[in-house]
Amino acid sequence: MRVISVDRLREKAKRTLPAPIFHYIDGAADDEWSKANNQSAFSRYCLNPHYLRDISEVDTRTTVLGAEMAMPLILSPTGMSRLFHVDKEYAVASAAARADLMYSLSTVSTVSIEDIGAHTTGPKMFQIYIHKDRGLTSELIARAREAGFTALCLTVDTPLAGNRERDHEWGFAMPPKLTLKSIASFLWHPRWGLDLARTRDLKLANLVDRPGRPIDQADGIMAYIDSQFDRTITWDHAARVIEEWGGPFAVKGVQSVADAKACVDIGASAIMISNHGGRQLDTTPAPVDCVRPIREAIGDSLELIVDGGVRRGTDLIKALALGANAVSFGRPYLYALAGGGEPLVTALLKKFKEEVERDLALVGCRSVFDLGRDHVSEARHHYS
Ligand code: FNR
Repeated sequence: MRVISVDRLREKAKRTLPAPIFHYIDGAADDEWSKANNQSAFSRYCLNPHYLRDISEVDTRTTVLGAEMAMPLILSPTGMSRLFHVDKEYAVASAAARADLMYSLSTVSTVSIEDIGAHTTGPKMFQIYIHKDRGLTSELIARAREAGFTALCLTVDTPLAGNRERDHEWGFAMPPKLTLKSIASFLWHPRWGLDLARTRDLKLANLVDRPGRPIDQADGIMAYIDSQFDRTITWDHAARVIEEWGGPFAVKGVQSVADAKACVDIGASAIMISNHGGRQLDTTPAPVDCVRPIREAIGDSLELIVDGGVRRGTDLIKALALGANAVSFGRPYLYALAGGGEPLVTALLKKFKEEVERDLALVGCRSVFDLGRDHVSEARHHYS
């Protein structure tokens, strides 16, 4: 399988999935300004190549969150992969392990912590949401440790669900509901529904089997977030999670210098600068635009991961030149999962690595550690 571009993968996913499911992946909050801006922000930076350097050997390897990986790219946590492909989170975790990249498993995944832990030996991060049921948080932390996850990230931008208007428009729910608007699309993609009816394995695998605490998923994931997630948590709670985990820890969803400083104060190891792919609060800044101010404010004390809008090798190179340690992406691998399962996710990761290797050489660097501020400039300054 060959991947031309993330845009083509998106088109393939759109053809493959019933419309409500595609729009669940592709959509974002309100007017989707943040989602679009996350991507277009990268085009406001120019790369400044330095020529006549020996770039006969290019090495993209790095270490982030305590794990060595083939390049500074993490697969962001995304919930409910069973909706997108019958091979669920297994497909993405296997492709990531084969590519020697870190895979992140969401709390609201359709494969359990234990099953992913047993499935691959690749570097793995578990993403946690703090539930009202505080016992559940401790349980999830212990389960992730036991299952061999090496890093933990706490998502802080989702105390309640964002306003995803495409989901309202298409009647997105879990399990999927037929509405007047969506019925033709489900009928047009019969294999998707037949597979789901055959396997009957669409469930929040980390949560559903918890004894004595039935979880109502009938109104969909957004209703689940609103009813179960704890809106009272503060930085003190985050500090306690770090203590309980005791290993590499990232705060995911930071968008301000003030919150970045709080991450330093509580002893986090990394910050995932992220607005949840524009799916939570709309009109928040693009993660790539936050790198420089955050790096200047906190120095080198924490690793910075740019999460959102990354589609090209050049995006990764710009983020690193601005001061990030790594990038991460969500939708690109979900489009690949939907369009062709594990082989297509593998092809995407291979293509992305080829882009990073080629672009690193073209910019005049032998390693990702050679990238610095003089390799990137704001486009408007460049032309003035
Ligand atoms: C997400 N994201 C997400 N984040 C998280 O912390 N926990 C989760 O369960 C999910 N679930 C989820 C589902 C889907 C369908 C998408 C598209 C995204 C956000 C994700 O981790 C990441 O922040 C964004 O996907 C990054 O933006 P890009 O790469 O999609 O532009």
